[in-house]
Amino acid sequence: MTNPYDDAFAKSINDPDAFWAEAAEDCHWYKKWDKVLDDSNKPFYRWFTGGEINTCYNALDLHIENGRGDQLALIYDSPVTNTVKKYTYNELRDEVAKFAGILAAQGVSKGDRVLIYLPMIAEAAISMLACARIGAVHSVVFGGFAPNELATRINDAKPKVIVSASCGIEVKRVIAYKPLLDEAIEMADANNRPAKCVILQRPMETAGMIEGRDIDWTSAMADAQPHDCVPLAATDPLYILYTSGTTGEPKGVVRDNGGHVVALKWTMKNVYNVDAGDVYWAASDVGWVVGHSYIIYGPLLKGCTTIVFEGKPVGTPDAGAFWRVIADHKVKTMFTAPTAFRAIKRDDPKAEMLKKYDLSNFKTLFLAGERLDPDTLHWAEDNLNIPVIDHWWQTETGWAICANCMGIEHLKIKEGSPTKPAPGWNVKVVDESNNLVEPGKIGALVVKLPLPPGSLPTLWNADKRYIESYLEEFPGYYKTADAGFIDEDGYVFVMSRTDDIINVAGHRLSTGAMEEILADHPDVAECAVLGVDDQLKGQIPVGFLVLNAGVDRDNDDIIKEVIQSVRDRIGPVASFKTATVVKRLPKTRSGKILRGTIQKIADNKDYKVPATIDDPAILGEMEEALIGIGFAKARK
Ligand code: COA
Ligand code: AMP
Repeated sequence: MTNPYDDAFAKSINDPDAFWAEAAEDCHWYKKWDKVLDDSNKPFYRWFTGGEINTCYNALDLHIENGRGDQLALIYDSPVTNTVKKYTYNELRDEVAKFAGILAAQGVSKGDRVLIYLPMIAEAAISMLACARIGAVHSVVFGGFAPNELATRINDAKPKVIVSASCGIEVKRVIAYKPLLDEAIEMADANNRPAKCVILQRPMETAGMIEGRDIDWTSAMADAQPHDCVPLAATDPLYILYTSGTTGEPKGVVRDNGGHVVALKWTMKNVYNVDAGDVYWAASDVGWVVGHSYIIYGPLLKGCTTIVFEGKPVGTPDAGAFWRVIADHKVKTMFTAPTAFRAIKRDDPKAEMLKKYDLSNFKTLFLAGERLDPDTLHWAEDNLNIPVIDHWWQTETGWAICANCMGIEHLKIKEGSPTKPAPGWNVKVVDESNNLVEPGKIGALVVKLPLPPGSLPTLWNADKRYIESYLEEFPGYYKTADAGFIDEDGYVFVMSRTDDIINVAGHRLSTGAMEEILADHPDVAECAVLGVDDQLKGQIPVGFLVLNAGVDRDNDDIIKEVIQSVRDRIGPVASFKTATVVKRLPKTRSGKILRGTIQKIADNKDYKVPATIDDPAILGEMEEALIGIGFAKARK
């Protein structure tokens, strides 16, 4: 007996050309593709080569032509400014076309990069879509990053124009973005700096403008000439999104136009079970991949109404914020990270706030970005009485690798599993020698090549790094850098990262990048940063410092300095607030720091003394140090 999920999955793997060509028929093409899957330049597989498309056209103009011009496309809901602003497809298209005109007037054209450093406001969506309209490649940088991170991205992307705002608004404070931007531009190499910056002045804090470089968003829009969509090759880049790699140098994940339009539009019905006209809300940030795929592109490509929410799950003003938005805008499907639900549960454990709102339109909750812990899953299920769907994906993949594809078949939910591979994703588990392992055995989670459309074709200007990072270790496969297993029923379980990436409140961070900063401190001889369990954020980074011999300063001062350095160089998003000084770090005889063991001690989990340890007594010292900062046994 067959079932819809098995059929769809088998077709996607056995005949990817037919599978994705059918999905592509649902999109607007200026010129149809010559090849669906082009494998003429392995391992650089490309989708829909020869085809011509425009992502913005598919996201806006197409719906207007199909009679949806007066339907709401975007709702900007901002509890931090007490604003709700709604845009129909007609209105959003007009704003986007005008902003595209402003960019074009500044000489931005196909292939030029535009960096976007904006808070969660409608203008973020407008800028991204305007780039897509004229074929410029956008690179959105999350507001919680420090100028140094922004400068790294400016140096790599070399944007012609930067779009930013005077400020962003966090729960308790206004964050002046413009000085951060000016500092970042100053830090960037002179020949990588943008010619122009378009700045949206927000009333909460206005910014000083630099004569000749800075353009005021509002006055430019007042007399902008709308620009039409430009046909692009399916393989032309749509955006670059930088994500943490295993060093301080972020990876510029590239997304193309054709495969991305096809895949994301397909996921809206098949994964999320939404149709044109439905209200779909991803409570994330445009600075992350979830924001790109499911605040902006996915819902608009499908003709849904999307929500840009400038607020937090708690504190704006309370733990009922999500329920209020769902009720006010009749949200059918919501997507967020488990950490947001842990924050709500912490403030309102009995979900009293929920009772104040009519959530009758709310049908499915999707969670991703980090492991979905059983407590959070059950709390959400029990209080919402709707399916709560875990799904697993990465910045690189652009959409779900594994999901319970609600529009294909609602499979049984197994706690701790994001269910089965989504069509297109041939997920396997291999050991260190690249051999497939038996069901139930933990190994490296990999995906057999080719990856489906919408996934990264390469890294920006770094084909070699793309191969080294993802394709080299397990030939024939894409390395997800997650470890896990597949059970007898084909359910995938994602256990942990195999590299130094940690997940803090659903944000992906490199402990290696933090270690580089700690090691720069003049008093630090050696250091380690580890992600330890945190009830709210899933994981938080904790630093261990070994000081140089002869340092006789107060440890607390050194700790404060390294914490401040991480905040200054990576940004507040790192949530690096805890460090301790230790005499030495536990290592193997070959000198490798025993991170896994320290992590287990910190999390108060059972651990075995590794046979290869240099000196087992150090583990006792580590435990004492961890108790001193509230971890290990102190957690009981
Ligand atoms: N601009 C500037 N600063 C920002 C920022 C932004 N866009 N976003 C976050 N920050 C700052 C915060 O103010 C905070 O600073 P602080 O150390 O001075 O308090 C720091 O970065 C850490 O932010 P965050 O990780 O968001 O922690 P939080 O304690 O403020 O909030 C949650 C915790 C769980 C409520 C919050 O992380 C959240 O809403 N998560 C939702 C899930 C999500 O968006 N995941 C993204 C992937 S789906
Ligand atoms: P990002 O690139 O920021 O989306 O982070 C991707 C990483 O987050 C993955 O490699 C996983 O380690 C983790 N992740 C995302 N979704 C899940 C999930 N549903 N379950 C477990 N881990 C997840």
